[in-house]
Amino acid sequence: MSLNEQKLWTDLGPVDSFPLGKPIPGRIEDEEVLVVNLDGKFHVFERKCPHQSRYLDECQIREGRIHCIYHMVTFSLDDGHIIDDGGYIGLPDLIIYRTKIQDDRLWASPAGQNPKEVI
Ligand code: FES
Repeated sequence: MSLNEQKLWTDLGPVDSFPLGKPIPGRIEDEEVLVVNLDGKFHVFERKCPHQSRYLDECQIREGRIHCIYHMVTFSLDDGHIIDDGGYIGLPDLIIYRTKIQDDRLWASPAGQNPKEVI
């Protein structure tokens, strides 16, 4: 992995440190994120709900959706777009991070920067 590619990816830790189904807090530079291991597929997204910035640590994840428990705004687990805004019009989408596993560790990168996959 080149130095530039290394800067785009953040090492979030060993894959076995993320129990199934439980959102685990992490950090990508200054951003707080949550890591969720769903049957060995890892999802990383911003930790705070775009509605009132409450932590999504207790969010419910089912059927490819992230449900904030506070006012039930719902986001796509794939790309973070709002599926149900609960009537709170104009909310931004949830930030979703790209992930990869390398050397049994989970790495994440902001979407849109399109780093080359190096496995
Ligand atoms: S804080 Fe998440 S829906 Fe209101």
